[in-house]
Amino acid sequence: MSNPLQGGDTERSLFGEILDWMLAPLLFVWPLSIAFTHYFANNVANYPYDQALREHVAAITRQVKLVGGKPVLNLPASARALLRADETDNVYFHVVTQDGKLLAGDKELPMPPSSGDEAPLAGEIYLRDTEFNGQDLRIAYTYLAEPQMSRERWIVVEVAETTEKRTQLANKIVASVILPQFIIIPLAVMLVWFGLSRGLRPLTRLRQTIETRDPGDLSPIATRRVPEELEPLVEAFNEMLERMKKNVEAQQRFVADAAHQMRTPLTGLKTQAQFAIRETDPDALRHALRQIASGVDRAGRLVNQLLTLARTEGGEVAQQQHEVLDLSQLVRDTVEDWVMIAIDKGIDLGFEAEKGAMITGNAFLLRELAKNLIDNALRYTPSGGHVTCRVLHDQQHVVFEVDDDGVGISEEQSELVFERFYRVDDAASEGSGLGLAIVQEIAVQHDSSATLKPNPQGRGALARVVFVAWHPPPPPPPTPDDFSELYRQSPPIGS
Ligand SMILES: Nc1ncnc2c1ncn2[C@@H]1O[C@H](COP(=O)(O)OP(=O)(O)O)[C@@H](O)[C@H]1O
Ligand SMILES: [Mg+2]
Repeated sequence: MSNPLQGGDTERSLFGEILDWMLAPLLFVWPLSIAFTHYFANNVANYPYDQALREHVAAITRQVKLVGGKPVLNLPASARALLRADETDNVYFHVVTQDGKLLAGDKELPMPPSSGDEAPLAGEIYLRDTEFNGQDLRIAYTYLAEPQMSRERWIVVEVAETTEKRTQLANKIVASVILPQFIIIPLAVMLVWFGLSRGLRPLTRLRQTIETRDPGDLSPIATRRVPEELEPLVEAFNEMLERMKKNVEAQQRFVADAAHQMRTPLTGLKTQAQFAIRETDPDALRHALRQIASGVDRAGRLVNQLLTLARTEGGEVAQQQHEVLDLSQLVRDTVEDWVMIAIDKGIDLGFEAEKGAMITGNAFLLRELAKNLIDNALRYTPSGGHVTCRVLHDQQHVVFEVDDDGVGISEEQSELVFERFYRVDDAASEGSGLGLAIVQEIAVQHDSSATLKPNPQGRGALARVVFVAWHPPPPPPPTPDDFSELYRQSPPIGS
């Protein structure tokens, strides 16, 4: 039951929620139980007093004799006194003939209702409730008759009493049932409260376990003392911790590697700067400064690569940012950016593509992937060589290839080169060893993987990334309306 004073979004304590749901129904049940008690108490209270009333009627009736159809009454004064001797209630009686002639007792006492559907029997004692002089009355009455006596001449004996005693008894019964509830219900609430706080204790304990943990502690939480209901929660939490731990370790390794890699260009820069300080010849000084500038360029490139890798890996460019795109168009654009550099190096950079190479992916990342593979091919191919970029596709796949006839790669190296900071010949060329790691990371984000293999043509290397082809979703199946349309158009059968 949500508290109207609290907004819909505010958190509710589980404790309060359960307590509310257990106690609120009790508030409805309580008045109901009081009503039932009242009803039954009245029934119970009537019973003994009704019995006494019947006996009074029977006693009076015994004093009335019918002699030859005429009533003869013999009611001693002591009997009358006895009738009147009630402490709490007023008691009335009368003996009358059906036509209203009073034989004894109180004249004003109302007569029994003229019989409805069921004719009353002589000798039977009946009971009824009525009102008389503003008082509630309980009346017991009977009819006295001889066989073959006409109904008009029957004698009626009635004894009535006010209902004070009965009300008092009923109230006593109700009180004796309700009063203990005033103690029992608060006691029950307290017990429920107590039980709940005990029952929820494992939850508190779990919270404390988590709260008092070391900030860096990613070890799993022990499920030994956790109740059954909380176990899935704790297990899910532990799985999350495990993933976090792996992530943190990867990050730490990455930062350590990155720092190590940054040190090399920075040391180089420092040496060059110290060299320049000592230089007096303006030409030599300019040369030294130019070297420093290109050293800064390299360091800048490394930083950019590190950033790309960190971003790709962190899943920052999430899967939902993928769009449907034409890979051959994307590769063509990227190749164009590299044409001038290829010409500078004296390498023939070519592009071959089949139309309609549709995939889903992230354009920024895919451009980064193509850039790195083309950069490598140009970097590890000497002047006069050839580099060809290809986009091919069949029903299921779209393949991106960069084919070169440069220095090539051995089978053993072809796996290792995808590792971060791994370079085949560190001294012979410049680079960070991050390019292929970035390529692989991006490929994985696109549910694919990249390979770099010795070129089957004999010379150079062949880089390959195989993507899953995208197809437009099939049109929805025809609705019954479409069928009837078809049916109408086809010629009627048998004509
Ligand atoms: N097209 C290629 N031909 C020959 N070797 C390559 C080619 N591409 C990559 N390699 C090898 O793989 C290594 C790792 O490449 P990469 O991760 O891009 O780092 P980097 O280019 O910075 O050295 C390179 O050092 C190089 O030896
Ligand atoms: Mg590279």
